[in-house]
Amino acid sequence: MNLNKYKAKSKFKQKHLLKLEDYSEDDILQVLSLALKLKKHQKDDTNQKVLKDKTLGMIFLKSSTRTRVSFEAGMVQLGGYPLFLSSNDIQMGRGEPIEDTVKVLSRYIDGIMIRTFKQSDVEDLAHYGSIPIINGLTDKFHPCQVLADLLTIYEYKKTFKGLKLAYIGDGYNMANSLIVGCAKLGINIAVASPVGYTPDETIINKAKKDAIKNNCTILITSDPKFAIANADIVYSDVFSSMGQEDENQQRLRDFKGFQVNSDLFSLAKNDAIFMHCLPAHRGEEVTADVIDGPQSVIYDEAENRLHAQNAVMALLMG
Ligand code: CP
Ligand code: NVA
Repeated sequence: MNLNKYKAKSKFKQKHLLKLEDYSEDDILQVLSLALKLKKHQKDDTNQKVLKDKTLGMIFLKSSTRTRVSFEAGMVQLGGYPLFLSSNDIQMGRGEPIEDTVKVLSRYIDGIMIRTFKQSDVEDLAHYGSIPIINGLTDKFHPCQVLADLLTIYEYKKTFKGLKLAYIGDGYNMANSLIVGCAKLGINIAVASPVGYTPDETIINKAKKDAIKNNCTILITSDPKFAIANADIVYSDVFSSMGQEDENQQRLRDFKGFQVNSDLFSLAKNDAIFMHCLPAHRGEEVTADVIDGPQSVIYDEAENRLHAQNAVMALLMG
């Protein structure tokens, strides 16, 4: 498949990006193909100001480096204005209801990106507001990250169908979102998590329907070696996500054997790429020789946050 020449099957009708579950394969491919175009424009310095005079409110209830900076820079590149709204500084952090917050913000600005805890916060913003809402990470999903990941996978592998992605670690927001994204694009996914840390059953069951349609598989196991065998892509994420810092000591014990080190990585295909959403903890979920090694694509992946999100914003707000 050639993403540069992708012909949309239907008009892009999405109003928000709350989770990839809501997107069809065609929607995702439209985002990725536009992301490739915008990436080229960005490199050639020929970006069209498709978001001229538009304002994006960026609400953060959790920390961020990549999400904040890539949305902020992306908005400027596309001619718009990014407005950083830390929860410490807005009334929502003091308990103002989401309903009031979004109804008011809808009168001032053209879109909201939110990083929060509950997926229901994101869904509520979309329900009560009248502007596009973009999920910048919740406890359940991280769709912007997965769009960037898919773009990176395409750049390295030039296809999606029939690849195998092995995710080793916590069955949390990244695992959930990768399961959804892979099943939509026909990528086989194997997730290895310790017992008690497996991905969300409801999400897996929904994704299985896409997997059947797209002729790919979803495997959930507690055996990292089994999951990683013959993988084209190896993915890892922190053992303790934001908000779970108190569980770190327990998690380090529970995730023993789930570190992506060179022994484990050697079981993947010879030309496998290593991916990580970042931030990473070297020596915990991944060793430095793997994440800083020649097969790691983490910085391309981080860069692609910018291009994938620019495409999302252009489609939703342009
Ligand atoms: N991957 C990612 O979302 O990074 P930040 O937490 O720095 O935004
Ligand atoms: N699982 C991590 C992802 C960070 C981008 C977290 O939620 O902290």
